[in-house]
Amino acid sequence: MKFTPTEIETLSEEFEKSSPQEIVTWAVENFCPDLAMSSSFQSQSMPLLHITRQIHPKIRVFFLDTGMHFWDTLIFRERLEEIWQLNIVDLYPDASWRTFLRHFGQDLPETDPDLCCYIRKVQPMQKAMEGLSAWITGIRRDQTENRARTKILKYTRDGLLRIAPLLNWTGEQITNYIAENDLPRHPLPAELYPSIGCKPCTRPIQPGENTRAGRWSGRNKTECGLHTEMFNKNRLTDEDFKLR
Ligand code: ADX
Ligand code: SF4
Repeated sequence: MKFTPTEIETLSEEFEKSSPQEIVTWAVENFCPDLAMSSSFQSQSMPLLHITRQIHPKIRVFFLDTGMHFWDTLIFRERLEEIWQLNIVDLYPDASWRTFLRHFGQDLPETDPDLCCYIRKVQPMQKAMEGLSAWITGIRRDQTENRARTKILKYTRDGLLRIAPLLNWTGEQITNYIAENDLPRHPLPAELYPSIGCKPCTRPIQPGENTRAGRWSGRNKTECGLHTEMFNKNRLTDEDFKLR
């Protein structure tokens, strides 16, 4: 570990007043080449991609190809890769799950969304991060209760440092940044799909609803596990998931 947990705590406090550009610059200066970012390629992801790319044009951008994305997300990802010359690395579920997914994969978002997210998102990201020192992610405090409580810098599994440069930004700041910089927009209508994940777990929102109301709607779930304790686990326990 380059920084002790106490140093990271102090730096994280200091970064509460820093701009995302300053935080990303610090990350690049201290952790390259053992640094990567992740992006879900929705409109809200554009500001962090835009900022990070200006500081480190060839940073690895991990994209979790869950096999469950909207057509529009994959087209958007393709377009961005080409016009911004991004260094995208697609991540897939571990081959050990192939048989299980062949039998139950299609229904899994409905039957056990936590297991689905573990197989399609958490475990592939854990594996991609092996050997890396730091991970830039776009989570914000205004998105979920769990994210409201987190820090800009946080050690996760195996001394991996999670860096959240936009933690203090609001949805409004994101929208303004996109407009001011005329950034590309995800083709799904912004007013109906302000937050976009996998297709089976994303619905359009109604006027007045929270911007994340369309994520895992009715499933008592607000997080995929990338940003919760789930990410720190090395293996599943029976308590985590239903055995059938
Ligand atoms: S989620 O937990 O609800 O799906 P959200 O869409 O808010 O996450 O994105 C928060 C952060 O999680 C993103 O900035 C990104 O770092 C990571 N993330 C979420 N989905 C993906 C994905 N499909 N590929 C890569 N990173 C992702
Ligand atoms: Fe599965 Fe839905 Fe999680 Fe995507 S968001 S991995 S489809 S449960």
